[in-house]
Amino acid sequence: MSLTTEFAAKVAIVTGGANGMGERVAHTLAEAGATVVVADRDAERGALVVDEIGAAGGVAYFSHVDVSVESEVKHLIESVLSSHGRIDVIDNNAAALELTANDGPIAELEADVFTDSLRGDLFAPFLCCKYVIPAMVQGGGGSIINMASVSGFAGELTLSAYGIAKAGVMQLTRAVATQYGRQGIRCNAIAPSFVTTRNNDLYAPPELQGIYERVTPVDRVPSPQDIADAVAFLASERSQMINGQVIAVDGGLRAASPIVAGYRGWQESGR
Ligand SMILES: NC(=O)c1ccc[n+]([C@@H]2O[C@H](COP(=O)([O-])OP(=O)(O)OC[C@H]3O[C@@H](n4cnc5c(N)ncnc54)[C@H](O)[C@@H]3O)[C@@H](O)[C@H]2O)c1
Repeated sequence: MSLTTEFAAKVAIVTGGANGMGERVAHTLAEAGATVVVADRDAERGALVVDEIGAAGGVAYFSHVDVSVESEVKHLIESVLSSHGRIDVIDNNAAALELTANDGPIAELEADVFTDSLRGDLFAPFLCCKYVIPAMVQGGGGSIINMASVSGFAGELTLSAYGIAKAGVMQLTRAVATQYGRQGIRCNAIAPSFVTTRNNDLYAPPELQGIYERVTPVDRVPSPQDIADAVAFLASERSQMINGQVIAVDGGLRAASPIVAGYRGWQESGR
């Protein structure tokens, strides 16, 4: 790890920081000098991430929390404030991705899967915003980064509840940005496409990455580090005039016409 000082004296919370892209975000902010609170319900992995950050010379703490439970989010924010005195950054990254396996077309979707997805994917970041905003205002401002998804931009065949929740995350972002900008708080969202996380490597259908690669203008899909770099930028002073935006980190997927995949297939088949 090469340590820098961009986030020196800053305190950052990363929800879902025990795995996947949240883990990378935690490492990246710690490498830039932040004190990082890894807030996750996975205590085993959370402790490991915190140990790894410490071993590399960074400063990180683990907080065991379910961010979809209001009393736990309230306690998280209060305890970070009392231990560290301030909160400058929160990456609302945690989501109930395990539910996507039971997501599906609207008429076939179990009502419980829908409400649980909204709770894990939208209510949780709402709670984190609700409780972190007064803490940030008290400290003179801060940066909130919500994790959306390209699934929140357009209809998909199966990810109904997930996509609806992520579209809500985008509107949550615009609401916070509009309401608290004058108090020094910026709020932006990142919308990744398929990311090469450990869980995707293990559990996603193997064809899925190839489907994304086929339609992505650049020659690969994003890595967790690509997402972490975007989070670090939005968390930093370098993005001071970026507020209320949903930034797609998708290699240009959203910019490409929907016919690109079919056209590529047609070209490759020799027309
Ligand atoms: N992986 C992708 O391809 C992809 C694409 C677009 C968007 N996203 C979004 O990026 C974010 C991170 O995804 P990932 O693939 O790194 O996830 P992941 O499943 O690898 O890790 C998610 C982490 O969040 C934690 N978590 C989940 N719900 C929680 C809760 N209620 N309270 C506390 N911790 C909780 C889990 O324990 C886990 O450590 C999510 O918001 C996801 O929707 C992922």
